Amino acid sequence: MGHPIFWLVFLAHSFQNSVKDEFGAVNHLIGARLSSDVDLVVNVGDHIVNAGGKRLRPLVVILSAMANDYRGKNHIAAAAVIEFIHTATLLHDDVVDGSSLRRGRNTANSQWGNASSVLVGDFLYSRAFQMLVEIGNISVMSSIANASNLISEGEVQQLSYVGNPDIDESMYLDVIYKKTAVLYEASASIGAMLADCQTKAMANYGRHLGLAFQITDDILDYRGEEDILGKNIGSDLKDGKMTLPLIYAQGSVSGSDRAMIRDVVMNKQNERLIEVRELVKSSGGLEYSLEVARKQVLLAQEALSLLPNNVYTNDLIDLAEFSVDRVL
Ligand code: IPE
Ligand code: IPE
Ligand code: MG
Ligand code: MG
Ligand code: MG
Repeated sequence: MGHPIFWLVFLAHSFQNSVKDEFGAVNHLIGARLSSDVDLVVNVGDHIVNAGGKRLRPLVVILSAMANDYRGKNHIAAAAVIEFIHTATLLHDDVVDGSSLRRGRNTANSQWGNASSVLVGDFLYSRAFQMLVEIGNISVMSSIANASNLISEGEVQQLSYVGNPDIDESMYLDVIYKKTAVLYEASASIGAMLADCQTKAMANYGRHLGLAFQITDDILDYRGEEDILGKNIGSDLKDGKMTLPLIYAQGSVSGSDRAMIRDVVMNKQNERLIEVRELVKSSGGLEYSLEVARKQVLLAQEALSLLPNNVYTNDLIDLAEFSVDRVL
């Protein structure tokens, strides 16, 4: 899976080694449960799933279960469920965002069209729910049902904010909690639910990790490299989305620059995108956002203080660091 540079970055971290076998089992199950009699489902599903991706959410599920000394087997299926839901949201998100690049490949929507992406996204969602029923743990089911609902709500809320330059930091945090952090929160919680302990601490860990992760994604949209990241950059501003770097910049630049930012967000003035991007950088918006993300990392790590001190808990601590310290 994944881009070669991803492996260079990722293998420098120990957190995959301790769960290598479990991770192999998750990947195997993901492949096996992509099956369908309809070729288009398999083709689109394979295209996105085999492009790799960082698999961070399933990693959180596995580490959370094992840090809490879970001895059963359901964490493997639960991790696959989470990756299916994540992948379904990516298929839908790339339609909504009109993106052409994902995981270093053409997006499914650019290769097969919007209809195929939306429908295969639905297939992955519903396959995840079939697998959840097989796991048969009502707390896990409830956590994932709520998470899926909030993700959709968050994406709709963000859509309703497009082109609105008055979105402030707390409105932004509310959206990213729903669209992204909720799935990390569920990932961390369900590992603990299976092990039957520390559910609250793990939910807090996942929520803070997810906030740090999405703030970093929004920073990378300004300063990332398209061929390393494997997806389009600059798209948040181009689409008229107020993310944290831009919110900070708007509040700190001169009156005339502020007017330009508002104009670009409201009227999608493509010819001024580069100017605004430079303004975001020179205003300190990226540094400020990184600072906010780093605070979330510390909160995530603090949430782990109640957990047993073992190799898996240490991996969760490292993973929180990685969520902001990444180039993809
Ligand atoms: C992308 O998530 C969507 C966001 C919530 C920013 P990832 O960056 O985890 O995507 P993959 O799975 O590694 O491709
Ligand atoms: C994350 O937001 C969306 C999801 C929750 C699927 P983005 O729209 O910023 O994600 P990327 O940057 O396309 O991966
Ligand atoms: Mg997107
Ligand atoms: Mg999006
Ligand atoms: Mg993004």
